[in-house]
Amino acid sequence: MSHLAILGGAPVRAPKKPWPAWPVEIERAVELVSEVVRGGHWAYDGPKEWQFAHQFAAFSRATYCLPVANGTVAIQLALEALDIGAYDEVIVPGQTWQATTVACLDVNAVPILVDIDPETYCLDVAQAEAAITPRTRAIIVVHLYGAMADMDAVLALARTYNLRVIEDCAHQHGSQWNGQGVGGLGDVGAFSLQASKVLTAGEGGLTLTNDWELFQRLYSLRNCGRPFKEGSPTVQSGNYRMTELQAALLLAQMERMEERVNHRDENAQHLNRRLAEIPGIRPMKRYPQVTRQSYYCFSFRYDSAVWDGIPGTAFRKALGAEIGLNVGTTYEPLNRCSLYKPHTKRRHHLNEGYWAAIDPARFELPVCQRAYEDEAVVIWHAFLLAERADIDEIAQAVEKLYEHRAELREAT
Ligand SMILES: Cc1ncc(COP(=O)(O)O)c(C=O)c1O
Repeated sequence: MSHLAILGGAPVRAPKKPWPAWPVEIERAVELVSEVVRGGHWAYDGPKEWQFAHQFAAFSRATYCLPVANGTVAIQLALEALDIGAYDEVIVPGQTWQATTVACLDVNAVPILVDIDPETYCLDVAQAEAAITPRTRAIIVVHLYGAMADMDAVLALARTYNLRVIEDCAHQHGSQWNGQGVGGLGDVGAFSLQASKVLTAGEGGLTLTNDWELFQRLYSLRNCGRPFKEGSPTVQSGNYRMTELQAALLLAQMERMEERVNHRDENAQHLNRRLAEIPGIRPMKRYPQVTRQSYYCFSFRYDSAVWDGIPGTAFRKALGAEIGLNVGTTYEPLNRCSLYKPHTKRRHHLNEGYWAAIDPARFELPVCQRAYEDEAVVIWHAFLLAERADIDEIAQAVEKLYEHRAELREAT
């Protein structure tokens, strides 16, 4: 009989023992959604939407929050609010969900893909600087995989070259840099509230800013060009609004948001301490400025060379079998991503020069590729809501795999 669950042995975690359920705050959500249904104000600009917006702004230590239809649109509207458009270059990390670059294409800008920092899997600031040209207008920094980009360096770079900064915070509701929430560090923050995110309305998104002018432009952009109030600036636009029913779902979750983000962070820090003791396993870098880390995905780095050459895919599968969780890798790097194909849409064919400029294959992303193929080990966040003893089982499972790596090696 094998020691390893993947080969029929007993797993570290009892097979039917459940991990925390998702989504959360169900009963409270039912109460608040019922209030909306009975109240009759189902659309946008309702009392619950603005209550949520104020709560999320306070939670993020930002001045203004504006809910929108989804996270992709949040990035698009951020770009438009900053007046970024045709042929402007926007620097984007090659490791992110395709939405970050799709939003750039949808404002006729040129996404310039740069490689990631191997310590954080977020934007490599030196690579970003090397990619700056006279056409560069903005940097989109994406905080993901349980680490933050070096925001001091990003903001200094933006100041030096007079660039705007958009933070894509789809993965990090509640992360803080020196006590300031993500999304409020640059010019505009964009968040997704899609079903799997740590704050969710099923679908939905929001923007954050500390700038009154930008907030008013964002409002006009999300609402068919209407002004926020009499005299506010207006911008030609369509309908990118959220509904009051979604706001009710969000308000229910805000009641325990601080507690849950903190709980995940405490468990993640504990797990990182334990994982750091295992050969060939390295937690993601946490800058000292990170005063709170939020996790859409908990991640760590696996070095197959230290594990006798066992490929990352085999390690992930074996770990998943031990703990009863789906253990995956990062998004596909955007230069080879099956869902990022700008040339399949004729609307993007503005001219030959633009068509060539938006070809993702022209960018080299070796760090993204290495992370995706072999190194990254990624687990979706709900397990971090478990108790400490459950979290310890994950470290025990990695220790067990290391101890029995000869067996795993043999089987791969
Ligand atoms: C990093 C990142 N940016 C943007 C988005 C887009 O958000 P949405 O799916 O709400 O449009 C996502 C969604 O997964 C994401 O992970």
